Amino acid sequence: MAILKIARMGHPVLLQRAEPVADPTAPEIRRLVADMIETMEDATGAGLAAPQVHVPLRLFVFRVNPDRASGDAEDRAVLPNAVVINPTVELLGEDRRLRWEGCLSIPGLRAAVPRAWRIRYSGVDTTGAPVGGEVTGFHAGVVQHEYDHLDGILYPMRMTDFSQFGFNEEIARAQALAQAAKP
Ligand code: NI
Repeated sequence: MAILKIARMGHPVLLQRAEPVADPTAPEIRRLVADMIETMEDATGAGLAAPQVHVPLRLFVFRVNPDRASGDAEDRAVLPNAVVINPTVELLGEDRRLRWEGCLSIPGLRAAVPRAWRIRYSGVDTTGAPVGGEVTGFHAGVVQHEYDHLDGILYPMRMTDFSQFGFNEEIARAQALAQAAKP
């Protein structure tokens, strides 16, 4: 396995539309997925799409750690490392919510991005078995973020309120101050 180089915003590979994976069970795809998972864990990311490691193919990996769920009854999913190859995503309902997101291609920054609360997605894994389902909350948000990478879309292109965009440390400090000021 290997840790892969992550493309940063400004690199053209992040703006192109990725191509479908011809054979999801091919050994080189299995190797790519293993390397992407290792890279995501090394960078402590929640997700990583193939174009972010300079491979313009339609697949991404992600995970949902316990600390990422909001506590909302519909947002308690915790998932180990997952892969989705040749995904489809369908937004369900009209519910859109601002959720804080970061991206390994935009290091050090985060923003509140509007996302559908509920989605249905599908794809296959490296054995060709179907994956996906109907999901909500963080799980739905991370799938929308990673899927966007396959169409050359980065989260700033989805933003509606640029006052909620900044450096991780500054936002964390501001949130801690706001919390402390509450009676
Ligand atoms: Ni990203």
